[in-house]
Amino acid sequence: MKAKIALLPGDYIGPEVVKEAVKVLDAVAKKYSHEFSYEEAPVGCTAIESHEDPMPEITLEVCKRADAVLLGAVGGPVSGSKWTELPGHMRPEAGLLRLRAELGLYANLRPAILFSELRDACPLAENVVGDGLDMIVIRELTGGMYFGPRGRKDTENGEAAWDTLIYDEVEIERIARVGFKTAMMRNKKLTNVDKANVLESSRLWRSVVDRVANDYPEVELEHMYVDNTAMQLALNPRQFDVLVTGNMFGDILSDIAGAVTGSIGMLPSASLAKGTFGLYEPVHGSAPDIAGKGIANPLATILSAAMMLKFSFGLEEEADDIEKAVQRALTDGLRTGDIVAEGETSIGTVEMGDAIVKYILS
Ligand code: IPM
Ligand code: MG
Repeated sequence: MKAKIALLPGDYIGPEVVKEAVKVLDAVAKKYSHEFSYEEAPVGCTAIESHEDPMPEITLEVCKRADAVLLGAVGGPVSGSKWTELPGHMRPEAGLLRLRAELGLYANLRPAILFSELRDACPLAENVVGDGLDMIVIRELTGGMYFGPRGRKDTENGEAAWDTLIYDEVEIERIARVGFKTAMMRNKKLTNVDKANVLESSRLWRSVVDRVANDYPEVELEHMYVDNTAMQLALNPRQFDVLVTGNMFGDILSDIAGAVTGSIGMLPSASLAKGTFGLYEPVHGSAPDIAGKGIANPLATILSAAMMLKFSFGLEEEADDIEKAVQRALTDGLRTGDIVAEGETSIGTVEMGDAIVKYILS
């Protein structure tokens, strides 16, 4: 097949890891006789430098004429950099949010898997983790608190600021359906996460999820409050299979779910629009502290490319091939600095990419 892929390497380690993922995609194309073409565009700090805009019009156009987008990472250091001084709409992160909204990427899929070879990186006790972790957080990505009305005003107590958490039935129903469909493909268990004991938007959310549940009688649905879910993810993550939740809760919970696996450098994600279009990116950020050193772990981006093959292009076998290659690299003891255990030697970004290519072509 022929496919057009927009490449948005972004900031700091972003370009380093995207380069390795492209190498892997090219290896897959060669092996299975596909034709992938790439068009690159700036986003985040890089785009502010070149276009004075974290999401320039040209980048949006490049994405819109592609079949899928592969993104590296967006953002600078959390404090003390010129990026943190910028007004909200000019911050590098604003570019990512605009991209999600303009491309209609409403469903964010974040698998959290613990590879058995990396068991030692997992911060949880052996009896809690058992023989591994394998869950997926489905986060609504284009609504809720992130996109509701916001503002500031002067009050007698000084300035006040507000953000609004608002969801309508259409937004809730379509993400609920992604949750149920994903559950049907896995263990038929879905946890809906909300705060219906306090928030009106959560009460509407829950009632819509209950209504959609009628269409999926085989799925066992449970409701859980977000605070309890955070606790359960730390205490007993093995009870979860598929979790579905809103934008803000999903932002927080997907970090917790990722953290309990212990290796954020391994976690891919997909953000899907209606149809087959999607944006794929590693869950880890731009890691300014290790940028340019050639030591970043490219596996999360490589696994994101695998998700692209599966979800946007329907290339299941090719995606499996990449996942198996990553598995083999781990089994053979290949480790980048972030996942290396004491006494083991680590390899660099490029060497890891080369190894994955070799496994795919051998
Ligand atoms: C994420 C990130 C983004 C978010 C930031 C960079 C805007 O934390 O993808 O989870 O909050 O959605
Ligand atoms: Mg986040």
